Amino acid sequence: MLVTAKEMLDKAKAGHYAVGHFNINNLEWTKSILAVAQELNSPVILGVSEGAGKYMTGYKTVAAMVKAMIEEMGITVPVALHLDHGSYEGCKKCIEAGFSSIMFDGSHLPIEENIEKTKELVKLAHENGMSIEAEVGSIGGEEDGIIGAGEFADPEECKKIADLGVDFLAAGIGNIHGKYPANWPGLNFDVLAKVQEKTGTLPLVLHGGTGIPADMIKKAITLGVSKINVNTECQLAFADATRKYIEAGKDLEGKGFDPRKLLAPGAEAIKDTVREKIELFGSANKA
Ligand code: G3H
Ligand code: ZN
Repeated sequence: MLVTAKEMLDKAKAGHYAVGHFNINNLEWTKSILAVAQELNSPVILGVSEGAGKYMTGYKTVAAMVKAMIEEMGITVPVALHLDHGSYEGCKKCIEAGFSSIMFDGSHLPIEENIEKTKELVKLAHENGMSIEAEVGSIGGEEDGIIGAGEFADPEECKKIADLGVDFLAAGIGNIHGKYPANWPGLNFDVLAKVQEKTGTLPLVLHGGTGIPADMIKKAITLGVSKINVNTECQLAFADATRKYIEAGKDLEGKGFDPRKLLAPGAEAIKDTVREKIELFGSANKA
């Protein structure tokens, strides 16, 4: 069954490791991520952007699919189904649809409006037994239509949002959605340390997990990051494996064109990426 992300992230914060949030785009993505989480006995967060929710025909479809897959696959590790970068309306729809966690991304709003809407959604999420993530500052780059300028989070604003009762908080610390540019200066650990100082035991979230060097990941975890989001890296791995399959002409051999064969290399590539991240984040055997 689905669980909220609160307990697994509080444990991660206390245990100095991070739980992976892996975005799903369809059944194959979900199957690969769940299988590896179970294999490594790791808690896992399945992230669903609003665009992916629409692509999968709606949040009710996603919730029903994930719940059924957990049962059919015999998944016993903690799994949270989490709306990623949710709008106010999207959050309300996911509460209705049976998600176990939501993110309200109010980082593009004036802080007062971010506070006002976050406060309302915290109450609603908790009344429905769900966890809720908020964001301060913004994540650079573009993710599924979400474009951020990459402003650093203001630690005082983080405290104001934390005091509303959110369960975990995403703070902009120079992280970027998508591939990092060659001249990327790295994560700003001074800002992260100040945010943690202001927010105490609240689990912090690192968006834009694709391509961040392992030493930075480990340092971010020591400074309070307990949830790390990864999407692009799985997408690139899937695309690369699928391209290789087709370039090798495998789709022309026998029933190689069967979608269950055509999608298999990509699904395996997602597994490899998720496995590597779970090992790096330290959540293996922490279910
Ligand atoms: O919200 C999703 C994540 O922040 C994904 O970031 O695509 O750069 O790995 P990424
Ligand atoms: Zn993100």
